[in-house]
Amino acid sequence: MNNKKFETSAIRTQSETTQFSEHSVPLYLTSGFVFDDAEEMRASFAGEKQRDLYSRYSNPNVNEFVDKVCAMEGAESGYAFASGMAAVFSTFATLLNAGDHVVSCSSVFGATHGLFTKYFPKWDIECSYFGINEVAIIESLIKPNTKFIYAETPTNPGVDVLDLEHISAICKKHNILFVVDNCFATPYLQNPIKFGADLVIHSATKLMDGQGRVLGGITVGKKELIHEIYLFSRLTGPCLSPFNAWVLSKSLETLAVRVDKHCENALKVAKFLENHSKVNWVKYPFLKSHPKYEVAKKQMLLGGNIVAFEVEGGIAGGRNFLNTIKMCSLSANLGDTRTIVTHPASTTHAKVEAAIKVAAGITEGMVRISVGLEHVDDIIADLKQALK
Ligand SMILES: Cc1ncc(COP(=O)(O)O)c(C=O)c1O
Repeated sequence: MNNKKFETSAIRTQSETTQFSEHSVPLYLTSGFVFDDAEEMRASFAGEKQRDLYSRYSNPNVNEFVDKVCAMEGAESGYAFASGMAAVFSTFATLLNAGDHVVSCSSVFGATHGLFTKYFPKWDIECSYFGINEVAIIESLIKPNTKFIYAETPTNPGVDVLDLEHISAICKKHNILFVVDNCFATPYLQNPIKFGADLVIHSATKLMDGQGRVLGGITVGKKELIHEIYLFSRLTGPCLSPFNAWVLSKSLETLAVRVDKHCENALKVAKFLENHSKVNWVKYPFLKSHPKYEVAKKQMLLGGNIVAFEVEGGIAGGRNFLNTIKMCSLSANLGDTRTIVTHPASTTHAKVEAAIKVAAGITEGMVRISVGLEHVDDIIADLKQALK
């Protein structure tokens, strides 16, 4: 951690320069590193000497990316992964033993939910859920074997907001960990550690890259927990590639300016949709009509780039909206420079139980927009013609 401002840390946290005095960090595309003698090699493997050994363990490009995210999140330590899901899975696999229990918000990313429902049972790990509007029942779900509470905020795809300070107080009271997926907010908009989270996970594939190029993930937080995650990961190999780390580290240099503009565009899009007669409702954290507007204002700098809304006409209305879109992309990614629209009910959440969809606020006509960096007038013009 350092005392520099966010933008400065993002740009000036840099691996050591080489003998060439390069200004931009080089790409360390190497699987292994060389030792001077047998003693150095022994001490390095024994953990007595801190240095790069092998790129499954660490690599200068990956270290730089990790250092930047730690500075941005106010975290002690971190480990970077090949994708957001590798970060989620490796964090869970490190923390949990057979017989453990997890309490999670039911509104979590679909693949994370898939881990809870498809794989946790076969490892004898149980999960209890609270809906986005059931924060009051969280305490009653905690058991003697509960390891952690897991939450995303804002949620994907419902753009609901959970009060980080409130949940972390429950965790502290019961002496359990609080693990937060901070992907939608990015470290620029929200720092869960400030509100009491122990570990923070990101899919770097989204706004951190911001240009739809590479996958990546990271978990940051308490040093002793990250050390355990590192030990698990150096054995199992879900590591981030040096190339992707180089791309992501460069992208972080512009995170603040990009996210500022994403948020400005998203707020304008949300306001446009709120006033449209064919739109039943709009959810965006920084709209006064958002049910958790006050919480969003407390813990987020700006509202993020994701807007959820419902078009008239249910499933057919949602599909028709996507079919008439001209400029925006129909794609599964989010947090790109290009605006992306999806219809969760007929795609990502088509097979999800109705009750879970309702709890997560996913209605048949719901559309999720990842607002990009095109001129906002062009984004709105495309949405307008599709809503005709
Ligand atoms: C909130 C959230 N967490 C995790 C992930 C998984 O990230 P990745 O696709 O990089 O594995 C995603 C992907 O969309 C996400 O939206």
